[in-house]
Amino acid sequence: MNSDLLVSASLLGCDLSNLENEIKRAQDAGADWLHFDVMDGIFVPNISFGQPVLKAVKKCASVPIDTHLMIKDPIRYVEEFAKAGSHMITFHIEATREPLMVIDRIRSSGAKAGISVKPGTPVGMIKELVPYVDMVLIMTVEPGFGGQGFIHETLKKVSMVKALAESAGKKIHIEVDGGINSKTAAECRNAGADVFVSGTYLFNSQDMSKAVASIKGL
Ligand code: DX5
Ligand code: ZN
Repeated sequence: MNSDLLVSASLLGCDLSNLENEIKRAQDAGADWLHFDVMDGIFVPNISFGQPVLKAVKKCASVPIDTHLMIKDPIRYVEEFAKAGSHMITFHIEATREPLMVIDRIRSSGAKAGISVKPGTPVGMIKELVPYVDMVLIMTVEPGFGGQGFIHETLKKVSMVKALAESAGKKIHIEVDGGINSKTAAECRNAGADVFVSGTYLFNSQDMSKAVASIKGL
């Protein structure tokens, strides 16, 4: 069993009226990271939460915070999200014309850099960037909402990124996000993913420790 697998609990799926307890519940259940989804109502047709909420999360969190920026022109907000407590900041290739500058800005702000592709975006769009990032996030649903069904066609992109990273001699994380449960996580593990974002499945489970373990195949 691979102990390097990580589960990132997506706070979009938690009971926001009870945020501190939900964070504790996820951490106590063994979640390795907390996933913080930022939506601007422009890049995606939904609005979630921003830096003030991230600062509040940071106060109660004891695990790294994995920030997923679903915002247009992410370079504008990278520093603020790094300062607010992000360990990793992931942005979308579809949201910027200056991905290398965004990566540099994330790193110079003290966070690790991730890049993401929507389900319809080919891996070719980020091919040249793989050697420069710490993580690639393959969206397994259309970004914007929790609780959607996993898109199986995205699995081949996970394998493609794994092959690209190996041929570049780079050890990067490959994260999947959207519709992850014990069954879809197994398919993603087989394809080469090592970080699993989960909102609905984790926070709706009666026994979250079991749910975390099942995502890792334990
Ligand atoms: C969707 C978000 C996800 C979302 C996943 O745009 O990026 O992180 O919270 O939720 P589930 O696990 O419910 O698909
Ligand atoms: Zn996300």
